[in-house]
Amino acid sequence: MRKISTNLLGSTEIDVGTAVIGSLQFGYNTGVINAPQKIIEKFINETYFERYQEPISKTTLTAIWSVAVSIFSVGGIVGSFSVGLFVNRFGRRNSMLMANVLAFIAAALMGFSKIAHSWEMLIVGRFVVGLYSGLSTGFVPMYVGEISPTALRGALGTFHQLGIVVGILIAQVFGMEAIMGNDDLWPLLLGFIFILALIQCILLPLCPKSPRFLLINRNEENKAKAVLKKLRGTTDVSSDMQEMKEESRQMMREKKVTIPELFRSHLYRQPLLIAVVLQLSQQLSGINAVFYYSTRIFEKAGVEQPVYATIGAGVVNTAFTVVSLFIVERAGRRSLHMLGLLGMAVSAVLMTIAMALLDQLKWMSYLSIVAIFAFVAFFELGPGPIPWFIVAELFSQGPRPSAFAVAGFSNWTANFIVGMTFQYVEELCGPYVFIIFTVLLLFFLVFTYFKVPETKGRTFDEITAGFRQTAATGGEKNSPEELNSLGADSPL
Ligand code: GLC
Repeated sequence: MRKISTNLLGSTEIDVGTAVIGSLQFGYNTGVINAPQKIIEKFINETYFERYQEPISKTTLTAIWSVAVSIFSVGGIVGSFSVGLFVNRFGRRNSMLMANVLAFIAAALMGFSKIAHSWEMLIVGRFVVGLYSGLSTGFVPMYVGEISPTALRGALGTFHQLGIVVGILIAQVFGMEAIMGNDDLWPLLLGFIFILALIQCILLPLCPKSPRFLLINRNEENKAKAVLKKLRGTTDVSSDMQEMKEESRQMMREKKVTIPELFRSHLYRQPLLIAVVLQLSQQLSGINAVFYYSTRIFEKAGVEQPVYATIGAGVVNTAFTVVSLFIVERAGRRSLHMLGLLGMAVSAVLMTIAMALLDQLKWMSYLSIVAIFAFVAFFELGPGPIPWFIVAELFSQGPRPSAFAVAGFSNWTANFIVGMTFQYVEELCGPYVFIIFTVLLLFFLVFTYFKVPETKGRTFDEITAGFRQTAATGGEKNSPEELNSLGADSPL
């Protein structure tokens, strides 16, 4: 353990830091569209007038705006589903590098949309950066999971989420009127992703390829060993090599697994169910109802400076991701996820009470701020970071890319649904809208309790061995405790 902690300042962190620029881009584009809504709508309005010599109707404007916002998740759905096409052919690191072409194209399209008087460019740009972000939600956790030592896999895995939340926060701050959220600079605000892509393109070639990819997919043992030595900062990498070879031997038996095979084989049924439900628990918790519409929610709750409250939510979001980073290896994934879901459910009830009583009691607006901050904080303890990196842990090298594709697809689709429908459902339910999320959160809590095994401190091979044996016993042994003990017994 000491060896690993010295290495905490070593090359693995720099490599992880470079990879999560992809996560930062995803977060930035999630948060960037919120604050400058009115200004960009003004541009659309003016452009429409130039073209047709009449003002745009409210319905057309809303339609154009909704498409511009939500087409990002459509890109995400397509991108995340395509992960498997790249990672085995080009490798994890090179796939990340190549994806930057999309980021450059998107930056150009969005950055020049104002000069070109074209909101269509803005929409296409949002789609393209969605593609990039969808790919990143597969590439980044996969690469990070594969280069991390077992004992730090959770902590380093949380860096993906940290990248996302920092991205959201930067976008919220940059989007303030005094910075770039104004008539002149909004194209720069959207085109800023160019700089991030450039930095990643410079740094990525200096990062190693995934040693698992080198050994298991390419059978290049010496290269894998050299990479591991650099990553771990030690010459003795025999236990890592041993573990990867074991995974490789398993893979000889199971081969590369396509998406239809993943669904058909009873071997993967349980980990797949867990991976997908955990993704759904992340999105259907209602977190993006807050991140897409927080300013509006705060306004309705009678908060005087909603923009600052929104930035406050971003700060809490970032702070608690850091907390999670430090405790995830001690507390474990399963307990943190359950704690997070339960805390979110309680916060959602508080939020509902605050919204419902607002007319009678003015101070309820403060309760609503506290409740939303608590909702976000509990999210980041578990449901934010864990679903992303647990997919790498639940599957071995063969089915991993396909599993990432299916998990990413589920996540982005649920993201899209919440983003598109929240405003309408809110109109129907009024202050009670978060009760829907409370019910869903409780369902996910029960699911996690009964189905999700603890993966902390176990090698990839131990974890999948647990599932293999469960499948062999016909799914009789499938409580989390039994899965844990099965995995722990497996030979290395
Ligand atoms: C997670 C979600 C993302 C959300 C973010 C908020 O990464 O996948 O959709 O916006 O958390 O921090």
